[in-house]
Amino acid sequence: MEAIENILTRRSIRKFKQEKVAEKQIETVLKAAMYAPSARNEQPWHFIVIDDSRLKEQIKQAHPHAKMLSDSPAAILVCGDKNLELSPDYWPVDCAAATQNILLAAHAIGLGTVWLGIHPRTERKKAIREIFGLPDNIEPFSLVAIGMPDEEKEVPERFRPDRIKRNRWEEY
Ligand SMILES: Cc1cc2nc3c(=O)[nH]c(=O)nc-3n(C[C@H](O)[C@H](O)[C@H](O)COP(=O)(O)O)c2cc1C
Repeated sequence: MEAIENILTRRSIRKFKQEKVAEKQIETVLKAAMYAPSARNEQPWHFIVIDDSRLKEQIKQAHPHAKMLSDSPAAILVCGDKNLELSPDYWPVDCAAATQNILLAAHAIGLGTVWLGIHPRTERKKAIREIFGLPDNIEPFSLVAIGMPDEEKEVPERFRPDRIKRNRWEEY
């Protein structure tokens, strides 16, 4: 799929078919994640691939907006590693770029995804930390539910020319 079309047609998918996601597809989206830009190229990320339904149930208890995990055959937990940071406090920005690459790569190969926010919600982070036994230097950032889409969504109109300025803020 052409790159711009891929960006514009990606939508959050919350209904999934039961089909499994192939290991090769998971590898493709994780490779895309690892090619995201990061501050000073620090690449401070780790990814936990989740396909255990008991774990998905535990996450659902810990996250208020994660009901679709019952359907999604897999999920990816994106984590930042504070020990790998070269530029302090940039890990969430780097992990956001990696998360977006996962969504776009998955869409390009016919998979559906939805980004579930974890950082900066302290109570979600605490619960996820406990479920996965994360060490202190590892920060859970986002969870991506992933699978074959079982819903289709229109492309909404989001282009807002009024949000664009040229050279300076004031209109004159
Ligand atoms: C930081 C962040 C956190 C989000 N958290 C959730 C979530 O917890 N549950 C959910 O169903 N969708 C979540 N979303 C998806 C948004 O609801 C979705 O991206 C937004 O409504 C725009 O729709 P689109 O992705 O189809 O373009 C999150 C998205 C972002 C970027």
